[in-house]
Amino acid sequence: MMDVGRHPRVELMTFSEVETVSGFVGNFHVTVRKKARYVDPTECTSCEECSKVCPVAVPDEYQQGFSSRKAIYIPFPQAVPSAFILDMDNCLGNNPIACGKCSDVCEKKCIDYDDQDELVNIEVGVIIAATGMDVYDPTEYDEYGYTRFDNVITSMEFERLICAGGPTGGNFMRPSDQERPKRIGFIQCVGSRSRDGRGNPYCSNICCMNTVKDTLLLCDHYPDTESSVFYMDIRAFGKGFEDMYMRSKEEGVKYIRGIPGEVVEDPKTGNLILTVENTTTGKLEQHELEMLVLSQGVIPRKDNDTIKKLLTLSSTSDGFIMESHPKLKPVDAPTKGIFIAGCVESPKDVKESVTQASAAAARASILLNAGKTKVEAITSQVNAELCNFCGICATVCPYNAILAPDRKAKKPPTIIQAACAGCGACAAECATDAITMRHFTDDQILAQIDAILSHKPHEHLITFACNWCSYAGGDNAGTSRLQYPTTSRLIRTMCSGRVDEKFVIRAFKMGAPMVLVSGCHFADCHYISAVHWTQKRMDRIWTKMEKLGIRPERLQLEWISAAEGQKFAKVMRDLEETVKQVTMEEIEHSMKVMAEEEIRMAEKKAKARPKPVAEVAV
Ligand code: FES
Repeated sequence: MMDVGRHPRVELMTFSEVETVSGFVGNFHVTVRKKARYVDPTECTSCEECSKVCPVAVPDEYQQGFSSRKAIYIPFPQAVPSAFILDMDNCLGNNPIACGKCSDVCEKKCIDYDDQDELVNIEVGVIIAATGMDVYDPTEYDEYGYTRFDNVITSMEFERLICAGGPTGGNFMRPSDQERPKRIGFIQCVGSRSRDGRGNPYCSNICCMNTVKDTLLLCDHYPDTESSVFYMDIRAFGKGFEDMYMRSKEEGVKYIRGIPGEVVEDPKTGNLILTVENTTTGKLEQHELEMLVLSQGVIPRKDNDTIKKLLTLSSTSDGFIMESHPKLKPVDAPTKGIFIAGCVESPKDVKESVTQASAAAARASILLNAGKTKVEAITSQVNAELCNFCGICATVCPYNAILAPDRKAKKPPTIIQAACAGCGACAAECATDAITMRHFTDDQILAQIDAILSHKPHEHLITFACNWCSYAGGDNAGTSRLQYPTTSRLIRTMCSGRVDEKFVIRAFKMGAPMVLVSGCHFADCHYISAVHWTQKRMDRIWTKMEKLGIRPERLQLEWISAAEGQKFAKVMRDLEETVKQVTMEEIEHSMKVMAEEEIRMAEKKAKARPKPVAEVAV
């Protein structure tokens, strides 16, 4: 951080928050709120005279609340810049009659109680999001007694207690009596790999090796300490990690395979009695410990939703930010010009974070050095003559790539080609067909439907499959040699959000017994929120089908991921059975009513379009 702070080409804005981001790759406009520090960092010499006289003491967040700090303080020893800030929520000094002591003793006179936040506008070409993660609060695991028993602590609290720069100066002691504990237990996977509704189902990746490191620290600093680790599996998969794990075992650390069911405290000694089933021996064991450390998992930052909105990103079902492609573009975000690094993407250790940060920086510099970027070939374009300026396209665009139309000025929407990712949701929602998706035009898709259903239509299941997941799921089924019926005909669209109502109507009109729309799992849509529009549209079509006397089951919606070849094959097998149950009368009825509906829709669209100038004049 010091190096970054000193680098002539890096402007480090600490104690600041990004308020707004607009624009697109190469042309982002960012507004940053530089929060008021109330102490001029360029003048402050960190002499500490101010904090010595400050009468306020509040729990020190950096020391996990084990010690206190003053209202005027340096957040942590390595903070850059190394200057004091004033915590105005706790300071008495904004009313100088009440206090003002720090200002009195400050020789440099660098304290200003009237300091204000400042908004700074900057123009950038690319953005790297490296906003990190939070840690899981294990209070809901009531059986472990965290917050009920003083000597049950978290792994973060352990870090502070054993650190030379910690609240005890590195003298490891337990909170209840300030004695050094000699028997210490660690419980792994607290809040990780959980399927009981508490915590999270994913592996937090770093906790096993963090505990191994902690046990080695104890062996090194206090060789007479007995450490026991209670675990499900030890995941020591990185370079040198297995050696470290073995070293910890050789040093005498006991690894007991089993997750404790109960922890009680002996009120006299403050010791903890832990009951666990040792799954290696199959025996129930009790362990008396002087301190228990809960190896807490990693969770996405609480403000990840704000980050997602600011940068138009999407997240995976576990709440971490989604990459553009897990294998081929692991540090690119789906929005062009935005990259991700570190735990914002998934839980990872320092080495992996550094690797990813280097990769993100390299990817970003490729764009910056080129000074230009290739835009997506599959993008939307507007036919200004057909546009009725409703603005729905700008609303549905997950990338803010469409500048809304101006009805008064008769200005149609503008597609920012560099920002358009090509999902096609705008084209599917446009009420007047004024938007065309290059390479996936209405005419192209309708022609595919017509061609498929030109021969024995009642035998074919029309499947619209999104490029990234369902279509890839079909590929997966094929390469895995999974058997499924040949009744289905796949029509590829980039996203399920591209599937227009008129495609479904045309399929039924042409005699299809069934239609399937399939896309990525809801949180995994590669076009952020485009899949929400798929769902809304499908609801609309189902309602219409009911009104027209067509069984809604004849239109199915399935979420199939690229890895779910098995599911793809099963869906196809199941749907073949359903296709067989559709009678010829039903097909003839839907052909008739959908033909009428197609005409009705075309007329409605024609009405919604602006009148040609000549016609208006008449
Ligand atoms: Fe698959 Fe959007 S990309 S549903």
